[in-house]
Amino acid sequence: MTAIEDRAPTGRTEVEVEVEGGTSYQGAFRIWRGNASGGALVDFEVEVNEGEVVLDVVFRVQATQAGDLAVRWNCKAGKCGSCSAEINGRPRLMCMTRMDTFGRDETITVTPMRAFPVIRDLVTDVSFNYEKAKEVQAFTPPAGLEPGEYRMQQVDVERGQEFRKCIECFMCQDICHVIRDHEENKPAFAGPRLFIRYAELDMHPYDTVDRRDGLVQEQGLGFCNITKCCTEVCPEHIKITDNAIIPMKERVVDQRYDPLAFLFKRRKDYQEG
Ligand code: SF4
Ligand code: SF4
Ligand code: FES
Repeated sequence: MTAIEDRAPTGRTEVEVEVEGGTSYQGAFRIWRGNASGGALVDFEVEVNEGEVVLDVVFRVQATQAGDLAVRWNCKAGKCGSCSAEINGRPRLMCMTRMDTFGRDETITVTPMRAFPVIRDLVTDVSFNYEKAKEVQAFTPPAGLEPGEYRMQQVDVERGQEFRKCIECFMCQDICHVIRDHEENKPAFAGPRLFIRYAELDMHPYDTVDRRDGLVQEQGLGFCNITKCCTEVCPEHIKITDNAIIPMKERVVDQRYDPLAFLFKRRKDYQEG
């Protein structure tokens, strides 16, 4: 084992140690610690080994320096969506963010998702998303159609499958400027994660519910100005804006502003009293 000393630009003494199978070094971490009443960033110097991800290092901080550091995770494989946090200000999955993404002399700041209330340290209360999910009217097939009688084109299956890849990490919700700094918008805005759910149902050939009015009037589709930030952070690479939000906006426009569709709807509304 050999040690290579170097003076990092941060003023820290960087010691890189060659170990079997790779190298390790002392990394600088700044982790937000606190609860709903407030908190602050706390500095840690911690060992980082080759091949590790941010979650490994957070575990090491927990194991060696801050036993009560709260962090939520389950799979450590990018599939449960639990370990979402902000790393250097950007929403990321801690278990999928490799340490070699960053320079060894870089201080890595880990903070909880800003759009949701903090429970403790890196753990946020994401129940807003589940409350919004309850407002989505469920899939409703035509009356009399039994399970096993559905016949769908492959293209229709694939369209919905893209949205079903969602792991509910809620990073798209976190980055969306409509709610990120505007708690007051939440009651009237479902957010990108729920917009893909609406799109999935609306594009299902056997669904019979028209959710478009509610999507505009109660779920705030019109607040979205297609910045595409949600698409950029999605770990499942779901094309949230191009494949869900924009088509839903077009379908809403078709329904509300197509003169023929408008007349038919008025007539139907009139007939239904
Ligand atoms: S595209 Fe729309 S939903 Fe997505 S982050 Fe931007 S404003 Fe929010
Ligand atoms: S759409 Fe993507 S970013 Fe949003 S919750 Fe699902 S997986 Fe996460
Ligand atoms: S721990 Fe499951 S996605 Fe990171």
